[in-house]
Amino acid sequence: MNKNDLIVVLTGAGISAESGIKTFRDYDGLWENHRVEDVATPEAFDRDPVMVWRFYKERYFQSLDVLPNAGHYALVDLEKHFGDNFLLITQNVDGLHERAGSKRVLEMHGKLLTCFCVGCKANYKMNEVDLNPEIPTCPACGKFLRPDIVWFGEMPYFLEEIYQALKKVSVFISIGTSGHVYPASYFIAMAKQNKAKTIGVNFERPENNIFIEEFHQGKAGELLPELVKEWIGDL
Ligand code: OAD
Repeated sequence: MNKNDLIVVLTGAGISAESGIKTFRDYDGLWENHRVEDVATPEAFDRDPVMVWRFYKERYFQSLDVLPNAGHYALVDLEKHFGDNFLLITQNVDGLHERAGSKRVLEMHGKLLTCFCVGCKANYKMNEVDLNPEIPTCPACGKFLRPDIVWFGEMPYFLEEIYQALKKVSVFISIGTSGHVYPASYFIAMAKQNKAKTIGVNFERPENNIFIEEFHQGKAGELLPELVKEWIGDL
């Protein structure tokens, strides 16, 4: 890879699996014993905000208990090498890329570390609000708060910035994502259409496999440290 190339990386739940966070679509198809549609839709929050809040409080506290792994750290090294010619897009909400030290990261599905008011839209860090009530409320206006997660049927964050990067990308690397959820699953096709080289790193062949030119099968935490050395020319 050339230092002037724009490198865009897309990550999904697979990169956090070795940190101890369950992925969404493996094994039983359940997310921590819940069907995704029961906890990750605006309708679920309207129907049962107590249950949805209980679920995301658990995910929030779990995310504080886990640590970034070698895969997250390898991407920090990749960013250090490419600088402004690097962009990390993540579907993950666990904050582990930032905790590892990634700076140029777009959390397109939101984050567990924040929540916002359904009334005045004020955004808060979870540790700034009282999480004891079953449905936490806004310190400013008193209305309900909700997790700052992009649920199914909602618009992902940073799409304009992402589409601009996909127009200029030279190398697109997809890591630990099953390629099931649109629009993230389609970024690789857009990159390829714009003549980028496409690389996949995943435990199994993902759904959008046909757009991957170079595939590395295995665990991200095991493969990425060596691959990154190769990509930055240290091997
Ligand atoms: P998935 O659970 O759909 O896919 C995780 C992928 O990672 C699978 O293809 C696994 O084979 C692979 N995998 C598992 N362990 C791995 C490892 N150690 N190294 C590399 N790969 C591994 O997760 P996502 O594709 O991220 O949305 O799911 C996309 C979105 O759907 C999520 O952001 C979430 C979910 O519903 C929201 O919560 C809004």
